[in-house]
Amino acid sequence: MSLIKIINFPSIGDDRGSLVAMETIDKVPFEIKRVYFILDTLKNVSRGFHAHKQLKQIAICVSGKCRMIIDDGKNREEVWLDSPNKGLLIETNLWREMHDFSEDCVLLVLASEHYNESDYIRSYDDFKKMLD
Ligand code: TYD
Repeated sequence: MSLIKIINFPSIGDDRGSLVAMETIDKVPFEIKRVYFILDTLKNVSRGFHAHKQLKQIAICVSGKCRMIIDDGKNREEVWLDSPNKGLLIETNLWREMHDFSEDCVLLVLASEHYNESDYIRSYDDFKKMLD
């Protein structure tokens, strides 16, 4: 089974332009407790490099694109987030990395939990050990 779980958020377009909605009742499989976005990422900067014990997230590039890597300790898969309609569902206990941010990239993240540093696993070795 693929580690890359894409959720399609359709554009509700009309002659004024596009609108994209994300709702728990419909496509988002958790209650959203936090929303944040990453922007103005400098050239050649990669981010992430951690996993979460409890936190689930959906990541969407609402503008521009970036390349996401998802790793479960055994397999490593990648996907380009390159559309405001394309959400990547990141379940618990998955290592994630974000690379190749375009200059105009705005990466929006919907999160199932409040910010909690103790939920992070920031070492790949610890991540692997936790899975054993
Ligand atoms: P971090 O999660 O390490 O960023 P990324 O995974 O995108 O590389 O977060 C960077 C810093 O921001 C870190 O000091 C924690 C802080 N932070 C918050 O205070 N609240 C948040 O919701 C997030 C995501 C990060």
